Amino acid sequence: MKVDFYGHVRQYNNIKAEIDANIHEVIQSGQFVMGPMLKRFEGEFAAYHGAQHAIGVGNGTDAIWLALMALGVGPGDECITHPNTFFATAEAIWIAGATAVLVDCDPRTKCIDAAKVQAAVTPKTKAIIPVHLYGQCADMKAIRKIADQHKLLVVEDNAQGIGARGDGFQIGQLSDATATSFIIQKNLGTFGDGGAIVTNNSDVDARVRKLRNHGSNARNVHSFGFNSRLDDLHAAILSAKLKHIDAWNDRRRVLAARYSAGLRGARHFTLPYESPGGRHIFHLYVIETRDAKKRDGFVKYLNDASIDAKTHYSIAIHQQAGYPWGKPARVAGSLANAEFNAAACVSLPIFPELTDNEADYVIATALQWDKAQ
Ligand SMILES: Cc1ncc(COP(=O)(O)O)c(C=O)c1O
Repeated sequence: MKVDFYGHVRQYNNIKAEIDANIHEVIQSGQFVMGPMLKRFEGEFAAYHGAQHAIGVGNGTDAIWLALMALGVGPGDECITHPNTFFATAEAIWIAGATAVLVDCDPRTKCIDAAKVQAAVTPKTKAIIPVHLYGQCADMKAIRKIADQHKLLVVEDNAQGIGARGDGFQIGQLSDATATSFIIQKNLGTFGDGGAIVTNNSDVDARVRKLRNHGSNARNVHSFGFNSRLDDLHAAILSAKLKHIDAWNDRRRVLAARYSAGLRGARHFTLPYESPGGRHIFHLYVIETRDAKKRDGFVKYLNDASIDAKTHYSIAIHQQAGYPWGKPARVAGSLANAEFNAAACVSLPIFPELTDNEADYVIATALQWDKAQ
């Protein structure tokens, strides 16, 4: 059996008629950039979050730095995040001209450790950027408390957590802005690049709308800005897919439970931890080998058995060659948990269209490896 890591084509084939109809509508409208389909999707996406505004932009990285820029974060300001995330979280801080401050992650959730954030705050700190890593909410209540105490901004990096919930909070409720990615493999993914900012702050909404469109919201009238818009064709695909996101996330949760039940008895893995009271939507199902030195052998064992296992993310940001490339950066305290996560993480295939049989084959193969150690 061969098990892929992604199910984009299966997903398309399952809802082909809905996607094709939306694409057709855009083409027939003749409006492909900043057209009616983008407007419609922005309304649907804001409503999905129970938020006042959603602004479609070019990609998830732009969503983060556009939010930071709209909030007035720039050179001389420190933004606190953690290093075991996709590189773009830190990259966006640098694009905004600010200083990336890296603190450790929580050893169980792998999301930012709020206690470490508190310890890293200086008079230069301007923002905290928690990442809802792998599809599980960071501890937003603790982060909000620190932000209130020190008058800091909070921008959620929600590239991986659309549809997730925390214990007693929704994504977007406890922050100034939330940045999302719609790149192909995300739980809500288009056939290319895309992103969005969700916010209840009308100033942020107005600023991002101008910044993404050459500093313009009226023809021929400009201020400094960029070109970073979500195309209407992508909005069309996303509008069709948004109707299914909760059911798809439910299916991911069922598959995650199947993996966890199947692998529970294994001696060499640490399984994903779900914070009580929250809804983890398993953008990724990430286990760790207890012995980090065994990780690469395990991935190879799976790959040799035609299972496309991957690692997210095997080189932490501060461990990338050349870090920080002359950009302003600071490591605050030990990053031992994040470094272990980078060294030991293994992502098993998970997507809504994965069959039970495929998941069972992954479990059986992982158990074979576990037994042979
Ligand atoms: C945590 C995280 N932040 C930011 C991004 C950047 O999104 P994009 O690739 O759409 O720029 C991604 C995904 O790619 C991500 O996983």
